[in-house]
This record gives sequence, C-alpha cells and structure tokens, in this order.
Amino acid sequence: MPPTLFYGTAIFGTPTIPSLTEAENVSKFLDEVHSLGITELDTAARYPPDNVGGSERLLGATKAGSSFTINTKVLIAGATGDGTLTKDAIRASVANSLKTLGVSKIGILYAHAPDNTTPLEEQAEAFNEQCEKGYCERIGVSNFPPAMLEKFLSICEEHNYIKPSIYQGEYNLARRDYEDTLFPLLRKHKIHFAAFSPLGGGFLTGKFTAGNAEGTRFGGPLGQRHRKVYDRPDFHNTINELKRIIEPLGISPTGAALRWLAYHSELNEEDGIILGASKIEQLEQNVKDIEQGPLPENVVEAIKAIKGAAAA
Ligand SMILES: NC(=O)c1ccc[n+]([C@@H]2O[C@H](COP(=O)([O-])OP(=O)(O)OC[C@H]3O[C@@H](n4cnc5c(N)ncnc54)[C@H](OP(=O)(O)O)[C@@H]3O)[C@@H](O)[C@H]2O)c1
Repeated sequence: MPPTLFYGTAIFGTPTIPSLTEAENVSKFLDEVHSLGITELDTAARYPPDNVGGSERLLGATKAGSSFTINTKVLIAGATGDGTLTKDAIRASVANSLKTLGVSKIGILYAHAPDNTTPLEEQAEAFNEQCEKGYCERIGVSNFPPAMLEKFLSICEEHNYIKPSIYQGEYNLARRDYEDTLFPLLRKHKIHFAAFSPLGGGFLTGKFTAGNAEGTRFGGPLGQRHRKVYDRPDFHNTINELKRIIEPLGISPTGAALRWLAYHSELNEEDGIILGASKIEQLEQNVKDIEQGPLPENVVEAIKAIKGAAAA
C-alpha cells in the first residue's frame, strides 16, 4: 500500500493563482479532491505567505471541515519562527484557526518551524495543553532539526506530555538528506512522516529544466524558495539523466518522482505524501501515476545512483 495522500492548500488565496482565490471555485476544487479519495487537507495559519490566513479563511468559507480532516500549523508571522511557539502564541493561533476554519477540532496541530528563542519546555507544555483541551487529535512538528526533535521528545517523556506523532518535512528524489539524519530517529520513536513538496514545488516535473517555467508557480514569485533549493546544475542534471532513462519507458518525470516516493523511498503506508497540484487535472494525474505502482527496477537503480552522484 502506498502512503496516505494529503492535499496541501498552501496556494489557496494567493493572488498569483486567481482560480483558487474565490470560495465558489475552491469549493468545486475540493469536491474533486474528495472524489479522488483524499480526505485530509494540510494548511497553516501562515498560508499563503502573500495573503496570510487566506487558506484557512477559504477552508472555513467552504465548510471544508465537514468533509475533510484539516491539519494546520501554528502561525509564523515574520521571517523566522522565533517567538512564535510561546504558550500565548500557540493558544492564540489555535483559537484563531479553530474559529476561522469553523471546526471544534484540528486533525494534526503542527509547529510550522523551529522557534529558537522560546524554551522547548514551554513549547512542549503548550502543545500538550492544546491536545488535552481536545483542540487537536495529534501533535506534529515540521522542519525541526533532528537534535531539536530528540530534545522535544525527551521533555515530553520527562513530563508525561503528549508526544509528536508525525513529522512534516521536504522529501523527494532530489532531497534525501533526511534518510540518514532523521528517519532513524523517527522510526525509533514510531513517528510518522508527511512528505511535502513531493515534486519540489514543480521542479521535478521537468518543466523548468526544459525551459518552460513560463506561467508556472515555480517560475513566478511563489516559486522563489523552491528555485533557491532546486535551481542548481546537479539537480538539472538529475532531471536530464532521469528523462534519458524513463522516456523510452513512457514514464514522465512527475510519474517517476511520485512513484519513487510512494514505493521506493523511506516512506511506508503509515506515512503521508502532501500533494500540491494547482489544477485538478494535475491532481488527477498525480493520483493516477501513484496507482501505477512500483517503478521498473532499472529506474529505481538509476535514482539510487543519482543520490550517490549528488552526494559526491
Ligand atoms: N511544512 C512546510 O514548511 C511546508 C513547505 C512547503 C509545502 N508544504 C505543504 O506541502 C504542500 C505541497 O507542497 P508543494 O506545493 O511544494 O508540492 P509539489 O507537489 O512539490 O508541487 C506542486 C506543483 O507541481 C506542479 N505539478 C503538480 N502536478 C503536476 C502535473 N501533473 N503536471 C504538471 N505540473 C504539476 C504544479 O506546478 P504549477 O502550479 O506551476 O503548474 C504544482 O503547483 C503545500 O500545499 C503545503 O501544504 C509545507
């Protein structure tokens, strides 16, 4: 079985994707998402970064919580997470998310990013409080360095707090650093993993390498962070090398990236993949690709070699 598929709503409400700024369109879009068998949505108090809170507002306006489990993240208002995980900030963010989403309970409540200025003891206590009050089903952390997660877990154990049971991080065939640094810790503590940017924000579709970034999210203002990460000669080489192997087999770069993540990566069926398609046809294709099952052995071997080359 492949990992659970989540749909990520970080682009709901961004002026750069006008088709997903109005409740009526978003409602139709979400009906299609649901009909593809996806029942959990990923959002954040910060999404989209160019219209903070717009994603949660659209999910509330469309009553998405009546048919989906909604997972959200504590607000990061500035450039970093510093000062965002104090007890008061967590309380205020959760209260606002519940009200905006129009739900009595969040599925997974995540720390969106590390807060290096608030003691971890205070953060762990505050997340425990929100869960004990019944405001969330589970606790998760996102983007925490492994050593920080380890310390957070030991604080939870010491005080008998509810521990994070899921980690959200960037993981795809080009970004595999977590395989050595994080996964052993997650497996030891039975923490699941939700992979965001399974296509590197669009990079792994191959469009950018082929020079057609025009009109794509990756090529525009929203793609700035992803361009910083992926627009490197070795990653373009990865795409070209992959295409050389998969094109004769009739497999697209998008299909290879998603099938690798679903069947050949460190993920298992208890983990998740957060898809971020901006059009319903893309999402349909993503789901169809994953339904194709594992990749041919020579493609898997080629992807393994790509990791070795990138690390060398
Ligand atoms: N915790 C965090 O810090 C964090 C950070 C980032 C994301 N996330 C979560 O993860 C979710 C997904 O991330 P992501 O949006 O980066 O995911 P992604 O799946 O890597 O990228 C989605 C983009 O890929 C392109 N695409 C997808 N399917 C395609 C297809 N079949 N054909 C052509 N292009 C296709 C689209 O680009 P175009 O729109 O250009 O066509 C789409 O916008 C977010 O919504 C958010 O919930 C979390």
